[in-house]
Amino acid sequence: MFGTMRESFTAATAVVVMGLLTVCSHSSLAVAQESSSSNAVVVDGTSFALNGDNVSYRFHVDNSTGDLVSDHFGGSVTGAIPSPQEPDVNGWVGMPGRVRREFPDQGRGDFRIPAIRIRQSEGYTVSDLQYQSHQVIKGKPALLGLPATWGDEQDVTTLVVHLYDNYSSVAADLSYSVFPRYDAIIRSVNVTNQGEGNITIEALASMSVDLPYEELDMVNLRGDWAREANRQRRRVEYGIQGFGSNTGYSSHFHNPFLALVHPSTTESQGEAWGFSLVYTGSFSVDVEKGSQGFTRALLGLNPDRLSWKLGPGEILTSPECVSVYSKDGIGGMSRSFHRLYRNHLIKSRFATQNRPVLLNSWEGVYFDFNQSSIYTMAEDSAALGIQLFVMDDGWFGEKYPRLADNAGLGDWMPNPARFPNGLEPLVEDATNLTVKDSSAKLRFGIWVEPEMVNPNSTLYHEHPDWVLHAGSYPRTERRNQLVLNLALPEVQNFIIDFMTTLLRSADISYVKWDNNRGQHETPSPSNDHAYMLGLYQVFSTLTERFPDVLWEGCASGGGRFDPGMLQYFPQIWTSDNTDGVDRVTIQFGTSLAYPPSAMGAHLSAVPNHQTGRTIPVTFRGHVAMMGGSFGLELNPADLQDDERESMPELLALAEKVNPIVLNGDAYRLRLPEETNWPAMQFISEDGSQAVLFYFQLGPNVNHAAPWVRLQGLDLEANYSVDGNATYSGATLMNMGLQYTFETEYGSKVVFLEKN
Ligand code: DGJ
Repeated sequence: MFGTMRESFTAATAVVVMGLLTVCSHSSLAVAQESSSSNAVVVDGTSFALNGDNVSYRFHVDNSTGDLVSDHFGGSVTGAIPSPQEPDVNGWVGMPGRVRREFPDQGRGDFRIPAIRIRQSEGYTVSDLQYQSHQVIKGKPALLGLPATWGDEQDVTTLVVHLYDNYSSVAADLSYSVFPRYDAIIRSVNVTNQGEGNITIEALASMSVDLPYEELDMVNLRGDWAREANRQRRRVEYGIQGFGSNTGYSSHFHNPFLALVHPSTTESQGEAWGFSLVYTGSFSVDVEKGSQGFTRALLGLNPDRLSWKLGPGEILTSPECVSVYSKDGIGGMSRSFHRLYRNHLIKSRFATQNRPVLLNSWEGVYFDFNQSSIYTMAEDSAALGIQLFVMDDGWFGEKYPRLADNAGLGDWMPNPARFPNGLEPLVEDATNLTVKDSSAKLRFGIWVEPEMVNPNSTLYHEHPDWVLHAGSYPRTERRNQLVLNLALPEVQNFIIDFMTTLLRSADISYVKWDNNRGQHETPSPSNDHAYMLGLYQVFSTLTERFPDVLWEGCASGGGRFDPGMLQYFPQIWTSDNTDGVDRVTIQFGTSLAYPPSAMGAHLSAVPNHQTGRTIPVTFRGHVAMMGGSFGLELNPADLQDDERESMPELLALAEKVNPIVLNGDAYRLRLPEETNWPAMQFISEDGSQAVLFYFQLGPNVNHAAPWVRLQGLDLEANYSVDGNATYSGATLMNMGLQYTFETEYGSKVVFLEKN
């Protein structure tokens, strides 16, 4: 039977198997471990196995209830698996509360947090979603209106399990896609109201997992403006613990990422399950250790910001959640995310391409420029060897010119007092400048914040109804601005139109898309998701219309550093905090879930504008080079002598490391929160080159300099280290290298070439 089933899968694109409760014993499922894509999804009756190169995900239909029961998510299991022991049902917890459920609905004795809560038209919130049929699809269908990982038949296989509630006529289609080479399982849900009444989806998780382990730690990223992505690790306790965002955006506060790890798991050893929600809006992550000891994790739309009405025939599609499993610690988990996101999430053609060294005007001149001074800045940039000049905030506004942050947002025409003949002359002159030591011309980029409006603007005076508002409640301003409601088609069209006009008006090859406040006074909780659907529609239209533009995301720094943004924007400004030492923590943290290729990182002036700290230019430069998009954030005219002298060498080094940082495997060798000597290493895709970034944060008095042991090298091979000595991979990994620094803020970039 097993062989027959697999043959039929290869013969057709999709196979639908109707088999309500004609269940074979799931434990008899035999899985041959052959090449990855042929075995990616194996079905035996109503037992399902999703297989990655090093991961197995198994579940089956419970014969008596039609519920989907999880069997395993972790390292590879092969052949038959033992059936779980039938639990004793005593006390208040019924059978649904004692088993590991794939998609827990509510109201029938599972008192743990549900993946879906539906308020039926009658008012109750009970549902009973039972297995109805399933379907295997080669490749991965797109997710309607939402960003999603993608791949062809060789890369990914999808299983769709159709559930149906006979009492309410609600259908839920669970989608499971497996990318075997990445050990990644991607889940999402489609809920359809097939009944006659109106229902409300009050909670919808993209994925739910019940791990059979009592002792787990959870790892996540928390922060705020200018201190994003701080790694937090805590023991999962009995009860519910979690985090999320209700700001309308993924936010600085918590990233839509969770790892569950065994308490003994480290960066390089032990089991880690990583979960990453491909979404930019309000989200929630809940982890619950239930009374029976299992650990449930849910990631999805934030129930506080949902209340989604579904009329007859209507569908709600959840964002997707990417899960990866690694037995090589938290670092292994990160590398799976990095590879998957570089190759199967980011759509931009720049995803794996070297990025131009850029100079952004913001910290150099803020709002204080005009056509001639900004041209001089571009000229100075080209003379330094900068390849892309970015004019940040302050170039627009006619009647309400943008001279400070209190006016102009929404009026996307060049300020005539600064640019009497529009942007064209400036852009033309700037893009005619030759970049130092090359024949290339300088490229030109621009800043926009399309989702926002200042009340001091023509746009707001003409369309006060376009902003988020709740009846007559005061419209609270943050940074003197209000949020346009992207749920409205007229707002979406306005943004698409002005961006199209802007990008066609001059030779602009880069856009920094900023977003500088959270959402308040929304017309309804469900507006959060409707806004996101509108925003994604705008992003996909514009990025498809202008594929040659390098798009960078930004939201007061890293306020929207999430996988949803990465679908459209190959890079994101990681933080407004450009202090070298703070950036080590922020960038190491961000790399937990996101490829370094996606990080914008700039060398800025000292004393640093956010922290007041003065750090040597080499340290600042080395830290910024660990981001895929390296740049400067200063006015070249203000460079100090030591900075000017170091610049040629630093820019050349940045260009040299860029391909390895962009497409290589990253290893966090030593963490800034644990040591005075943090270190990050990258190995090129083909393994022939590696680069080590090594830092000393504070002074080091009377303490031996530590050895830093490399990872991921070929034990047998020899590597030349900075062209000086040659050591074997075994020596470099088992013994390591040692460097000393005179005092604080020491840094070193070390190159290794495989002989
Ligand atoms: C916030 C961004 O994060 C900064 O880089 C800068 O672009 C400002 N906005 C401009 O207002």
